[in-house]
Amino acid sequence: MPHLDNSSQRTVPAKAAARSTDSGPSKAVGVSDDPSSMKAADTEALAAAMPFNATKAAEHGFLQGLTPPAGATVSSTSNLPGASTLTEINGSEKTGEPPPPGVNMGLRSLDRVRCDSTGQALTTNQGVRIADNQNSLKLGVRGPALLEDFILREKITHFDHERIPERIVHARGSGAHGYFESYGPLGHLTKAAPFKEAGKITPVFARFSTVAGERGSKDTARDVRGFAVKFYTDEGIWDLVGNNMPVFFIQDAMKFPDLVHAVKPEPHHAMPQAASAHDTFWDFVSLMPESTHTLMWLMSDRGIPRSYATMQGFGVHTYKLVNEAGEVSFVKFHWEPKFGTHSLVWDEAVKISGADPDYHRRDLWERIEAGAYPEWELGFQVFSEEQAQAFSFDILDATKLIPEELVPVQKVGRMVLNRNPDNFFAETEQVAFCVAHVVPGIDFSNDPLLAGRIHSYLDTQISRLGGPNFHEIPINAPLAPVHNNQRDGMHRQSIARGRVAYEPNSLGGGCPFQAGAMQGYVTVPETLNAKEEQAKVRAKPEKFADHYTQAQLFFDSQTPVEQAHIAAAFRFELSKVQVPAIRVRMVSSLRNVSEPLAQRVAKGLGIKTLPDAMPMALEHVATPEITESPTLSLKARPGDGSITGRKVAILVAPGIVGQTAINVHAALFVRGASPRFVGPHIGPIETVDGVALEADASFENEPGFLFDGLVLPDGADGVAVLAAAGQAMDFVADQYRHAKPIMVMGASAVLLDQVGVPIDLADGRVDPGIVVDDGTGEEVQKFSKALAAHRHPERETDPPMV
Ligand code: HEM
Repeated sequence: MPHLDNSSQRTVPAKAAARSTDSGPSKAVGVSDDPSSMKAADTEALAAAMPFNATKAAEHGFLQGLTPPAGATVSSTSNLPGASTLTEINGSEKTGEPPPPGVNMGLRSLDRVRCDSTGQALTTNQGVRIADNQNSLKLGVRGPALLEDFILREKITHFDHERIPERIVHARGSGAHGYFESYGPLGHLTKAAPFKEAGKITPVFARFSTVAGERGSKDTARDVRGFAVKFYTDEGIWDLVGNNMPVFFIQDAMKFPDLVHAVKPEPHHAMPQAASAHDTFWDFVSLMPESTHTLMWLMSDRGIPRSYATMQGFGVHTYKLVNEAGEVSFVKFHWEPKFGTHSLVWDEAVKISGADPDYHRRDLWERIEAGAYPEWELGFQVFSEEQAQAFSFDILDATKLIPEELVPVQKVGRMVLNRNPDNFFAETEQVAFCVAHVVPGIDFSNDPLLAGRIHSYLDTQISRLGGPNFHEIPINAPLAPVHNNQRDGMHRQSIARGRVAYEPNSLGGGCPFQAGAMQGYVTVPETLNAKEEQAKVRAKPEKFADHYTQAQLFFDSQTPVEQAHIAAAFRFELSKVQVPAIRVRMVSSLRNVSEPLAQRVAKGLGIKTLPDAMPMALEHVATPEITESPTLSLKARPGDGSITGRKVAILVAPGIVGQTAINVHAALFVRGASPRFVGPHIGPIETVDGVALEADASFENEPGFLFDGLVLPDGADGVAVLAAAGQAMDFVADQYRHAKPIMVMGASAVLLDQVGVPIDLADGRVDPGIVVDDGTGEEVQKFSKALAAHRHPERETDPPMV
């Protein structure tokens, strides 16, 4: 029998016990040369340091709920208790080293997943180099393909699964990276991380979208546009998921599936694509008079934006801001584009959708690649509970806006989009915005539409992105630390260290522990005033029943040209409706907005006798604070007066004066525009002065309506060639019809005559959008001004003259 001294009698059982994964002695003993027994002893010490749950008492009572304490934690003298395995020290190139304490290695910049194949050979997904990527494996060159061909099978199998479901709404969109810069510390209003200091930079990813169309649909459909921004703040992700219109069609999430089913292609024949101009949409909205205000916006030029960079954005719902002292104010979020809010006209939108269905996607991409970075200022409309109660409308009603005359918009920072994604699918398609993503300092109001949204996004993304772990997809992962006990599920990426996946725990020293009120997200407590409000009920507040006051406010705040566009849009959309009763019903609703509008639409639809005005849901509507709000007109939003990002066509043809065209090109380029030479064909164009000039595009591949402005060249021979080209004449006609600026150099004045374009307006005034080279050398200056104004609707007629 071997001799055992005292110490080894202690050591051997302790070591042996520590190696067991089942049961254990009454006392764990650490033996310094033995990791297993050290781990057992350190774990015992951790667990013993937490003899009871010290924060249990704080789970009870209303007041405790307002200021939850931080969870109890104990730290260990070693990192052994937190390890899943002692063998983590046997690292390899694959397994790596144990992480530094408290670090989630998965959260780093997108560099960690970016893949560059420069100079690399093709491999399989398992990293095996592929010798031949041209042929499948066959038994002889003319023989059958073999099942054994794992390379072919992997390639085809992956291809077979390349598609994921598209978004149920907002399927068509485009996105970009950038940053948000705070103008000042806003601690008095909100403790939200992006607003902590002046100049603080927060990375963002923004996605803009249409709502109704499918993923491959055209960009220029008449539709609401999504305007979603993901802020990667240092206190977690904040998603501001808004639209380019400040109001919505419905007031309660219960109606969202109905609205979307009504506007999507009709279920029997799946038509029309990306269009609201059909029976089911107008049937639904004409029975839902609360939609009327949003319909005004949708039928206005806002429904056909010129570009994503020239759209306003709105959070739509009322949210809450919470400051460090826990004080709460209400807020509406606004995005104001630096380059102005500009729109297309309908005829232009229709033509663009054929020539370039990617018009907005291309514009966003090209602006960013060109360094003409899209930029918006973020604005807050901040107001108190008392103000809210005094308003004639309900701030929980998403069909209402707060006129800027009642609550001014204060600018709190700017967003610049300065980096295109590397990969559309990995970033823009897989990005998952969610209204429920808020950070401390931002909270929800009781808007019932918002409540449904808080649920909907994460829920739908579980289907769209294939399981519950889509937050780990790189574009969705926050920069802020993520530590929790959520585990498993499809496609789990992070590898949680240790045995603890629950809380409270003592085996992990209590970690990850609840952050408590000082650091963690605490929902603002709210009391409901009236006793009757404290019973469960399915009903709306009474002010929600005022369906027309703000529709009127919007319509009456538009310029005559804007009102004419609204009337024309209703006429067009309702003319596509097949069932006359629906058209009549909509006209009867419009009578509650504006009698002249209803008459104009009725006339356009051939309705001889106006129907009675639709009965109102509320007999006595509150008196509105204002009846006109000039800030609702696009006229109030010209932007910074620059021509940054504007596309200009300079027509060229054999025989033009090359140097003049090149000078105009250079002068526009330095002002930030994107000029292009457009000719009968791409490539070299012979000029009378022998100056080398290449056409970037042809009349055929980039027709006139794709451009914001047109320059007609000098040189009689070249002008004669243009005059003989029908497409060049269409160019001029479309520019004129769409009220866009035209610059006329030397001999090209005859082109206007040929198309029948008058240089002056019908009333004899000078058309500010037609700049004729008068030899003063100021023509580019004048043209730039006309271009900055974007459109010159003074010349518009209905129907168009040209
Ligand atoms: C109850 C009402 C609403 C529901 C249930 C709802 C639901 C949804 C769903 C399911 C998606 C697709 C999300 C995805 O697959 O990632 C979506 C996208 C979107 N929704 Fe809503 N929505 C509602 C109202 C609104 C409103 C009022 C706004 C504007 C304030 C809005 C703005 C957006 C935007 C911008 C997107 C696209 C986000 C992106 O670019 O990925 N939605 N919505």
